[in-house]
Amino acid sequence: MKQLANKQILLGITGSIAAYKACELVRLLRDSGSDVRVVMTQAATEFVSPLTFQALSQNPVHRTLLDETAEAAMGHIELARWADAVVIAPASADSIARLAQGRADDLLGAVCLATPAPVAIAPAMNQQMWLDTATQENIALLQKRGLHILGPATGDQACGDVGPGRMLEPQIIREQIAGLFETGALAGLTVVITAGPTHEPIDPVRFISNYSSGRMGYALAEAVVEAGARCILISGPTHLPIPYKVQRVDVQTAQQMHTAVMEEMSNCNIFIAAAAVADYRPAETSTQKIKKDQQQLRLELVRNPDILQDVTGSHPEVFAVGFAAESGSVEHYATQKLSQKKLRIIIANDISRTDIGFDSPDNEVVVYWQGGSKQLPKASKPQIARQLAAMIADHYNESQ
Ligand code: C5P
Repeated sequence: MKQLANKQILLGITGSIAAYKACELVRLLRDSGSDVRVVMTQAATEFVSPLTFQALSQNPVHRTLLDETAEAAMGHIELARWADAVVIAPASADSIARLAQGRADDLLGAVCLATPAPVAIAPAMNQQMWLDTATQENIALLQKRGLHILGPATGDQACGDVGPGRMLEPQIIREQIAGLFETGALAGLTVVITAGPTHEPIDPVRFISNYSSGRMGYALAEAVVEAGARCILISGPTHLPIPYKVQRVDVQTAQQMHTAVMEEMSNCNIFIAAAAVADYRPAETSTQKIKKDQQQLRLELVRNPDILQDVTGSHPEVFAVGFAAESGSVEHYATQKLSQKKLRIIIANDISRTDIGFDSPDNEVVVYWQGGSKQLPKASKPQIARQLAAMIADHYNESQ
């Protein structure tokens, strides 16, 4: 289940006898490569001990909203941001009613309100409680707000009744959680992405480069594949593994990246330039290692091609997305690049901040397009990438 590899799943457990099945769900999610954090309501702890979930998830269990030590370690806002998906399994009738009301007086309610991630619930209750109009109206309201309702199944119930209200089996819940990450918004499209730095050789052992880790471009490659696209990732030197289902083309220099990109443009729908391409390269590359026998050494540099500008110049039909890493006047430079490079979208981040951007696991960006902008609050690069893939898909579809 590749969609779940390296995902951060926040599992909410509420007061229902089906809580025992959530133990198996934690194990299955971890087997699929997800990191799992468990939030338990007070009622849930009456059914299964938090220690059980701590042992299975290998993370501390979160229980209270207003606990100084817990909030210092990972507060409700951090938990909400940490999650790639929030899953409540089992979701009791009471927890569903509380979600429908938007209550935030316990940790799980507050996390659900504060998360930008998809929220899925697996109801579990007596069949009469499930069929009650109050529950049905709450479920309809949650569905309208975009929550994913998993199940319930029909069959024998712990109370002796037979009917709808059984929590889905853990392996089915796992499959449906995996499905949350496959949006299909870019199905049938080819997306070409550049990522990482370039290396501009000075001699056989030295080069000019920058601090780009490639993480943002790689996260975007994963996100567009999850959204159903075919992805070609043209990557400068990085230490990152090839993402699942991504076709990677390895390059070293800006010129090689330029050639590789141009070769793909006739079959490309969307081009995302996330690479930190070196603006200059040494005018000459010495074939021999340069000796340190001179007091001063002058390197002459020449301009590299602007790959993104060349793409929009030669292939105006390609939906081109650029990045603007700026250390001041971010909006001014970003919108200037948007129109100068004839881009459909530009994604700006402030590299004067040390907690986000270059070589950092997190990012916080502002997305600009002709006539609008949207800020995406600080989150992990994979989370930002998924939000960007969804926005790019929306704008691309509007433009067609
Ligand atoms: O370096 P600059 O700020 O102009 O980068 C803006 C955008 O242009 C980025 O998306 C970057 O990947 C792209 N770019 C490029 N080729 C260059 C320089 C930048 O594709 N030589």
